[in-house]
Amino acid sequence: MGSKVKTIAVLTSGGDAPGMNAAIRAVVRTALGAGCKVKGIMRGFQGLLEEDIIDMDAKSVSDIIQRGGTILYTARCLDMLKPEVQDIAADICRKHEIDGLVVIGGDGSFKGAQVLARRGINAVGVPGTIDLDIACTDYTIGFDTAVNTAMETIDKVRDTSTSHERCSVIEVMGRHAGFIALWCGIANGAEEILISERYDYDEQRIINNIIEKRKKGKKHYIIVNAEGVGDSNGMAKRIEAATGMETRATIIGHAQRGGSPTARDRLYASMMGAKAVDLLVSGASKRIVGYKNGEYVDYDIEEGLAMTKDIDQYMYDLSIRLSK
Ligand code: F6P
Repeated sequence: MGSKVKTIAVLTSGGDAPGMNAAIRAVVRTALGAGCKVKGIMRGFQGLLEEDIIDMDAKSVSDIIQRGGTILYTARCLDMLKPEVQDIAADICRKHEIDGLVVIGGDGSFKGAQVLARRGINAVGVPGTIDLDIACTDYTIGFDTAVNTAMETIDKVRDTSTSHERCSVIEVMGRHAGFIALWCGIANGAEEILISERYDYDEQRIINNIIEKRKKGKKHYIIVNAEGVGDSNGMAKRIEAATGMETRATIIGHAQRGGSPTARDRLYASMMGAKAVDLLVSGASKRIVGYKNGEYVDYDIEEGLAMTKDIDQYMYDLSIRLSK
């Protein structure tokens, strides 16, 4: 007996993440393999509202697995916060006979999927964000590439920082999530890691540490600062004034969101994209795909979005122990 699902649509939403293309490719090819029609929605929920919807075939996703960004483009659609707009979006899905909608994005995008699911549209979320901050999954597509981009950049800044015997404040992405900063802090051997989940905004403590460590002969000082924990340029100026150590700020910025995805991102994206379609075809409804404790899993969208996540305390404590 064939699947009841005839048409599957896919969109990417929110900040892009390396590996989103691999996920789109997996959705499209798995759905075609299951005998479904596939539609691509351009620019996330914004494109849905504008009915910017294209037909996709196997060729539409050829030669994209290695590319960063998203061939479907993306947007942050604030209009989707309005109930009347959510009604319109659900009507548009029905008009285009979309039986299953795969939403690739972060928790903001999943909220869009959730409100459509509540209006009877079978939406399934696939976690795609460099921030790693989706509670119901240990892995989000894009994190591995982003953290490696940041790590390589910090290594380079560290070289020049050492040559000039400077302090460097290096800002990584993650407005509300310190995962990239924490991973880099450990992987780059930083002296300080400032993440909004733990930072006590005690700049004087950092200044005292720098003065103390310089007395003991430390020649450079690396501070990894998660975006959102103060202004890195201002922090660098204050540290230089208070310690006498030349200090520079480097903001890595959007480079972390681009680039060819790592093998890990391509693989997880392929697995999670395919799983989303397998769920839809098997008749499951309103799910979020994730990866937990070494397995690919799925949760009810309401349950998944209600979960919370914090950084690993052991990992955080370790970052402090290793920075001595
Ligand atoms: O959510 C991904 C992310 O890159 C965050 O790390 C960052 O805070 C934010 O998006 C930046 O958003 P924008 O590209 O809209 O400036």
